[in-house]
Order: sequence, then structure tokens, then C-alpha cells
Amino acid sequence: MPENLKYGTISSKEAMELEDKYGAHNYAPLPVVLAKGEGVFVWDPEGNRYYDFLSAYSAVNQGHCHPKIVNALMEQAKELTLTSRAFFNNKLGDFEKYITEFFGYDMVLMMNTGAEGVETAMKLARKWAYKVKGVEANSAIIIFAEGNFHGRTIGIVSASTDPDCRDGFGPFLPGIEKVPYNDPAALKAFLEKNGKNVAAFIVEPIQGEAGVNVPDDGYLKACYDICKEHNVLFVADEIQTGLARTGKMLACDYENVRPDMLILGKALSGGVLPVSAVLADREIMLTIEPGQHGSTYGGFPLACAVAKAALEVLKEENLAQRSFELGIKFREDLKAIEHPMLKLVRGKGLLTGIVVEPKDGIEAYDVCLMLKERGLLCKQTHRHIIRLAPPLTITQEQLAEVANIIKEVFQTL
Ligand SMILES: Cc1ncc(COP(=O)(O)O)c(C=O)c1O
Repeated sequence: MPENLKYGTISSKEAMELEDKYGAHNYAPLPVVLAKGEGVFVWDPEGNRYYDFLSAYSAVNQGHCHPKIVNALMEQAKELTLTSRAFFNNKLGDFEKYITEFFGYDMVLMMNTGAEGVETAMKLARKWAYKVKGVEANSAIIIFAEGNFHGRTIGIVSASTDPDCRDGFGPFLPGIEKVPYNDPAALKAFLEKNGKNVAAFIVEPIQGEAGVNVPDDGYLKACYDICKEHNVLFVADEIQTGLARTGKMLACDYENVRPDMLILGKALSGGVLPVSAVLADREIMLTIEPGQHGSTYGGFPLACAVAKAALEVLKEENLAQRSFELGIKFREDLKAIEHPMLKLVRGKGLLTGIVVEPKDGIEAYDVCLMLKERGLLCKQTHRHIIRLAPPLTITQEQLAEVANIIKEVFQTL
């Protein structure tokens, strides 16, 4: 074992070489290797400490290795991990009751990854369209917003407008239409023409991957009302924006919108396991019958124990309110940075985007590299946006320190 290693047995250099040689090249990570995490911090094998301002794309809202969540994992792992849904287990029903009461829905369908949650919502929407709305067989349409990111399956990339997500993966799924984001009039116009066949409108309350695109106030409510006029399901993908990230338990709460279907993932396990869920009322949920949808791991006992602890932490630590208050102050500090390359700071709660104007070959990625050198990890999205999403357990002092690091880096540009 190399002598200078603090965590694990593999150095940063070796780890990167191994991934490069043996792993598919479907990601281009920042050149940093993580070997340990606790709260808002992560460490590389050599012991260098970093602030984690990505939080695994908002999966680690509760902070790395939260003791309560890890304890739930360990206790349940000793009892029972997986049964499949061929049998009942003593954790699923208890968790289903907990999460449906938590969010105010009749029922839940548990899956694993976020993409599976979105696919589940798409399937439920189609079933509902045929069985309840009365759409003619094989004619149901699902509408998405341009610039969306809902995952990577063929069904979901069929709804994407991002060439990186789509190119070379056709043919795409029929029955998918796109309207501009933040444009209720476009949704209205589409539904006035084709509403009869439309099952659902699926939307991110804030577009995370697109660069923390915050729509105008009232957008969600307007879309919800338009959907209601045409008997179309309003479906919120809160996989990234939900679970206290944007300063409310759900981003839809800002507009008092209760989606017909709510998709959750990521922080539903606090970064411990892939756990996703679709919540809806009986009229929608019971359109899918035994044998028509599922997943071997969906709602497995370990996931249920972990997810219950993860939701309890959000409540016990008042993370939505923290995120709301700290986000306001953090963005004020960032907006006070004066630099010609820093064009705009936007966001809600502790989901913030900095829009950078690339100059002299320096893009958002290069800024992220410089931030990394100063102990701050974040990830660019596209060439010109830096997304900042720390664990919600961060303190005001830590946020002030990070705002200062960002200021110093801009001053060197
Ligand atoms: C809004 C949204 N939906 C869906 C997904 C897909 O989740 P997963 O990567 O767990 O499949 C993501 C992931 O970033 C997301 O941000």
C-alpha cells in the first residue's frame, strides 16, 4: 500500500487509470477521486478534503453517510434485504403508508432509479388515458418540456431535446410531443388542438440539468390549470427539485400545486441506495394490475428502511426551511461578486446556477477545475453553467466560506 494514502488502498492516479481502462467512457468526471464522505465534506484517497457542492446531483441532501440513514441500512441488512414482490414483506406496507401520508396521496409505486420512476409515470399515464379518459388504443400522447432531463432510457430520451442524449439512439418512442419550457401558452395551444388524446404533461418544476432554469412564478399553476381544463394529468418530476432541495419539501409547494403524479428519487434514500417512487391517487394507480409493471428490487425491504429514515431526517432537521433561508443568503453573496464573466446567479433554496460567459477559452468546466484546486467540488452543466447544490445540512458559515472561494477564483480569471 502506498505510504501517502489516508483512505483505502488505491491512489487517485491508479483509480482514474483503472476507470479509464476498464469502464465505459459514458462520463467525463472532474479529475478527483473520492474515498470518504461525511456531512458536507468528501476526501480523496490522499486525504485532501473538499466541500461537496454537487451532492451526487442532489441525492445526498441529508449529507454524506448520515448516521441515522446508515444505521437504518445496517440494522435492516442484518434482518432481511430482498424478497422480490413474489411475497409480501414486513417493511413495504409500513413504508407505503408513511410516504403516502407524508406527501398526501392515496398510493405509491416503488422503483429504484429516477429513470424508472419516470418510465413508471409514463406507463401509468398511458394506462389511465386508455382506461379512464377513454383515449383510442395506441393513440395516447405525453407532452414534455423542451430542455428537459428525465433520465437515460430509450423512452425518456425520446422526450429529450438534447443532442447528446438523443443522437445515435433512434428510432424513438412515438406518442411524445414537446412544448417550450416556461410557456403555458404553448401548452394551452397544443392542448386546444390535440387535448383529446393527451394523457399527461410531465415537467420539472425547475430544470436542473438544463442549468437550473427557474420558470416564472405561476408557471406550474398555469400549466396545472390548463391540464385540468383538458382532463390531462399534470406530472411533476421532483427527482432533483424535491425533498427540500429547493427550499420547500417539493418545488411545486411554492405554487400550491398538487401534481396528479409525483415522481421522487435521489434523496429519497439520502444517497445510500437507488430508491424512486411514483405517488398518485387510486384512480390512476389502480389502472396498472398485477403482472403489468414492476422491478425485482422495487420497494425492497432495505430500500424501505433506508427511505423512511431519509424522509424522517428531512423533517427532523427541518431541511426544507434551512435550504430556503440559506439559499437566499448564499445567492446574495454570489450576486455581490463583480466579474464580467459572471453573468447571472439564479436558483431556489440550495439549488443554484451560476451562468458564466466563456472567455479566452475559459469555460464553466475550467472554473470548476480551479474551484476544485481550492477545495470546492461542483460540476458544470453545458459549457456555461455551474450548478451549486451542497448537502442541506451545511451551515451559514460554511456557505460564506464557499462564496468567498468562488469570489477568489473569479478574481483570478
Ligand atoms: C429531474 C430528473 N429526473 C430524472 C433523473 C434520472 O434519475 P436517475 O439518474 O436516478 O435515473 C434525473 C437525474 O439527474 C433528474 O435530474
